[in-house]
Amino acid sequence: MNFNPLLAAARAARANAYAPYSHYRVGAAVQAKSGKIYAGCNVENAAYPSGLCAERVAIFKAISEGERELIALAVVTKNGGSPCGACRQVFSEFARGDALYAIASTRGGKPKVFTLAELLPERFGAEKLKSKNAKSAK
Ligand code: THU
Repeated sequence: MNFNPLLAAARAARANAYAPYSHYRVGAAVQAKSGKIYAGCNVENAAYPSGLCAERVAIFKAISEGERELIALAVVTKNGGSPCGACRQVFSEFARGDALYAIASTRGGKPKVFTLAELLPERFGAEKLKSKNAKSAK
């Protein structure tokens, strides 16, 4: 897969990062099965936990535009930071096939590419909720 368009979108979104507290700017972009790309940046808040990571901003943008199937995600930071667990879990909700995760640094070098399964083994998924327990909980 050619990650260049996704990486370019993530890099461009990083320029919009709102990170006055951590000063750690993050850009992300997801590619939907439809081919469309959705980008996001981290958005911090004076009430710290109210902020959101770049990856989830990008994913939620895609979902709110009607996408449901995501095939790849790219994240760009100054030092190749690895995505947090919450973002891996949220990506897994919509990831299809062997969804790929590219982790890149603005310092250059090759992005590291992982499958989502490598980054989030033994994920918790919807199938665990489709049980007798779920029915009896109605
Ligand atoms: N951050 C992301 O946007 N994505 C990640 O995967 C890790 C962390 C943001 C959250 C916060 O705005 C800043 O980086 C420092 O944690």
